[in-house]
Amino acid sequence: MSTIAFLGLGAMGSRMARRLIEGGRTLVVWNRSPQPVAGLAELGARVAASPREAAEAADLVVSIVTDDEAARTVWLEPQAGAAQGLRAGAVAVEMSTVTPAWIAELGAAVKAHGATLVDAPVAGSLPAVEAGQLLVLMGGDAAAAEKVKEALAPLAAGFRHLGRSGRGVRFKLALNHLLGAQVALMAEVLSGLAADGFDEKAAVEALAGVPVVSPAAANYGRQMAAGQGERQFGVDLMAKDLRYALAAGAAKGVEAPIGRAALGVFERASQAGLGEANASSVRKLYP
Ligand SMILES: NC(=O)c1ccc[n+]([C@@H]2O[C@H](COP(=O)([O-])OP(=O)(O)OC[C@H]3O[C@@H](n4cnc5c(N)ncnc54)[C@H](OP(=O)(O)O)[C@@H]3O)[C@@H](O)[C@H]2O)c1
Repeated sequence: MSTIAFLGLGAMGSRMARRLIEGGRTLVVWNRSPQPVAGLAELGARVAASPREAAEAADLVVSIVTDDEAARTVWLEPQAGAAQGLRAGAVAVEMSTVTPAWIAELGAAVKAHGATLVDAPVAGSLPAVEAGQLLVLMGGDAAAAEKVKEALAPLAAGFRHLGRSGRGVRFKLALNHLLGAQVALMAEVLSGLAADGFDEKAAVEALAGVPVVSPAAANYGRQMAAGQGERQFGVDLMAKDLRYALAAGAAKGVEAPIGRAALGVFERASQAGLGEANASSVRKLYP
């Protein structure tokens, strides 16, 4: 099987790269800061000095970094950006949760190099990566999406092709619009129950058994009740996704009062110094 360039080895990317290597894929990896590459080199990954160098060695180039700005640096930095190294016929895969506007801009840049872009953000957090249970949400050319599915099979329980370029990220933003609102709401509901004398852990388990509570909301509720500190999906990342979801809606004249309220909760948490903490830490805003 051909080589995959893997750019961005944060909480998600480092685990995804490891899983791909363990699934028999050949990887060349790059990360802005050097710390995460050592463990992957030990597993057999080649380490590139720049995104461009990594892309030059691969037929499929994956990026999973923080946001639009980070992705722009990785792909389009004039000297070292991955786009400069894309082979004609290669598939570029943007797996970061980013905006449809950025996907449109990147798609044009990738096309200018004779390659094809697939937007392929993921649903599922760190345990889902480790179990190979992500859901990959793809937009773009169907034949290129098939190549993504084959190359990245060890990562996911499902690959969903949602249509034209940008549809994968738009759908992902819709998911996190729902998730962000539910997590913010769970924090205030648990605070209310605790104030009325409920044991929080028992209350979460009781809520989890009722159909009105989603599995994701129950999972975050459990993390809140346990006071879990370990970061899986950070407050600032959730705020970014809500911001992007609201902007995508606003561009089409869609009101989002609940999304705005949820964003306000995550922004307050960030201002309180919890930006890098797990999203469940919004519970700390309440008594
Ligand atoms: N965590 C989750 O549960 C989850 C689930 C689904 C989707 N996502 C999405 O996946 C993406 C990555 O999330 P994560 O949890 O892995 O985040 P993370 O742990 O904070 O990692 C962020 C990555 O982006 C890199 N980066 C940031 N700014 C950069 C820049 N200017 N230039 C180059 N690289 C830059 C970081 O490099 P350094 O190591 O040098 O800082 C790191 O590799 C985000 O878009 C997030 O919304 C996350």
